[in-house]
Amino acid sequence: MQDALSRKQIARSYGTSRWVRSYVSGKLALDPVFQVGRRIISKRNRPVIDLGCGLGILGICLRTSGVALKYKGTDPEPWKINSAKQAMRYYGFEEVGYEVLDALRTDIPAGATVCLIDVLHYLNDLDQEKMISRLAEASHSGSLILIRSALRGTGWRYWMTLLEEKWTRLTGWIRGGAINFPSREGILKSFSRHGLQPQIVPLWGKTPFASHLIVISPPGEPVFRL
Ligand SMILES: C[S@@+](CC[C@H](N)C(=O)[O-])C[C@H]1O[C@@H](n2cnc3c(N)ncnc32)[C@H](O)[C@@H]1O
Repeated sequence: MQDALSRKQIARSYGTSRWVRSYVSGKLALDPVFQVGRRIISKRNRPVIDLGCGLGILGICLRTSGVALKYKGTDPEPWKINSAKQAMRYYGFEEVGYEVLDALRTDIPAGATVCLIDVLHYLNDLDQEKMISRLAEASHSGSLILIRSALRGTGWRYWMTLLEEKWTRLTGWIRGGAINFPSREGILKSFSRHGLQPQIVPLWGKTPFASHLIVISPPGEPVFRL
């Protein structure tokens, strides 16, 4: 893998909005999810589906570090998808697919590596169950599932996460969507109904949040070692 671009170089590709550039740069400085995701994705070496990709930071981290796997990112917010496309154009990766689409309506090809990073809590209980069923189906069709979510009932980190979510709604940075974090037990129970056993590990890096990585290996493959 070639050396990744610095976080400042990546942030520059997001154009003239200082707020967006600072957000991207801050995320890359404090949050390990993109590096960890990139490591897992490149080791597994299969096409990537990034559901709720937001500004497409994972996609650009992959491309700018030389991971040229097929990648598709979807998000219902048109301005985020446009920013993601702009960042990819800046570095000449026009072939990368970004589309305005809900995670529940995005096709998941068999055998992919599927990412759902900090998205699950936007869904109400019913849609979370639908999403988990779709991910379980994908896992049974040979996909590796990587979910990142804060978990309810994890002490002060959970309260910090709730505070931050409320702030995103008050400032208009995020418009709409539930604030509905799952619990560890809920995740384990939902996937076990589909015969799957997620691995769950903390993944909050330098942030004060209750973020965890949830990995579901496809039943036909050895359990992915974290
Ligand atoms: C906290 S951001 C995370 C973005 C990206 N995954 C990342 O880690 O940089 C959550 C994203 O979920 C998206 N989202 C909310 N509801 C969604 C849904 N039903 N389907 C797909 N994405 C959704 C939001 O638009 C937002 O971009």
